[in-house]
Amino acid sequence: TSVVKVAVAGCGTVGAALLDLLERHGEALRQRRGVRYQVTRVLVRDADRPRAVSVDRALFTDRVDHFLETPADIVVEAIGGTTAARAVAHGTLVRGRRLVTANKALLRIEGPALDALARAHRAAGATLDFEAAVGGGVPVVRLLRESLAGHGLHRIRGVLNGTTNYILSRVEQGVPFADALAAAQRAGFAEADPTRDLDGTDAADKIAVLAWLGFGVDPAALRVRATGIDASLALEARAAARRGRAVRLVATAVRIGDGVHATVAPRVVPRGHPFAQVRDEQNLIQLESESAGTLTVAGAGAGGSATASAVLADILRHGATNAAS
Ligand code: NAP
Ligand code: HSE
Repeated sequence: TSVVKVAVAGCGTVGAALLDLLERHGEALRQRRGVRYQVTRVLVRDADRPRAVSVDRALFTDRVDHFLETPADIVVEAIGGTTAARAVAHGTLVRGRRLVTANKALLRIEGPALDALARAHRAAGATLDFEAAVGGGVPVVRLLRESLAGHGLHRIRGVLNGTTNYILSRVEQGVPFADALAAAQRAGFAEADPTRDLDGTDAADKIAVLAWLGFGVDPAALRVRATGIDASLALEARAAARRGRAVRLVATAVRIGDGVHATVAPRVVPRGHPFAQVRDEQNLIQLESESAGTLTVAGAGAGGSATASAVLADILRHGATNAAS
């Protein structure tokens, strides 16, 4: 059995769910892959707070420099935001380590720079993976990075934010907007600052990242016209439901000539439309290409265990590379 050292930045919804997955599936992974994934450090804001994860308390730190000094083959970034997350991402890649991040806000502003850094340090072992950053447990990043390259992709369209979708599909059933938002927060679907979900920023970051992967545009430079949802839109959604229609927050990136036009906006769709079938925190993404037609992927778009499963897929991705026997 070889050992792969994993340092995890963040022990919130995603980080804690990942630590739980590694604990529960550790033995099966060791048997199937001959690899033991050993957690070497966990970065948090408050290292003294008791946590409901079965990780040695001594492994917790609140210092990014300590975290980066810890031996690790793979670093998972699940802290969110762009300041400490950026330091973790850069510090990981320049040390020739594998970075797995769930952070679409960071990828939007510097995905291409991180990709370049990973390539510059590839010989030392650096890689960059971010399946969990878009679509939660839905493997859309992999599809765009690998399977659909060269298919003549012309449009990406989807429900990319679980929190707003949860709210919209609950208000249809008569749940008040504020109650639906509070439930989405309790379930761990919402961002630390839920304004990013509500005003369309989170979906805009995600469609920009997908446009980067699908069309090669710089996600930071791509202007995404974003409109979100609020309590009055929720009332409209309830009225629409009575007329047999559904309101969904839809993100779109379409290639037009040499450019890409991207938007996030609430759309009214008939009940039979695929977007209307997307309920609660689910996401659904349609990839339209010349040679493969329309490919649709859907599933749990937010929440600890679905997101952690995408992080784990990235961890397992490069096999036992860097593993020490
Ligand atoms: P969260 O529940 O708020 O957890 C954040 C964790 O990071 C906490 O453990 C926090 O420490 C730690 N942290 C935050 N800022 C820090 C800093 N400056 N230095 C050290 N530690 C810091 O967030 P989350 O929902 O797990 O989301 C994490 C990332 O995954 C975000 O980028 C988010 O967009 C992305 N994501 C989330 C979901 C989801 O469904 N939640 C899905 C896909 C992607 P304390 O515990 O001490 O506060
Ligand atoms: N806050 C995000 C959402 C988490 O609700 O979709 C998943 O990226």
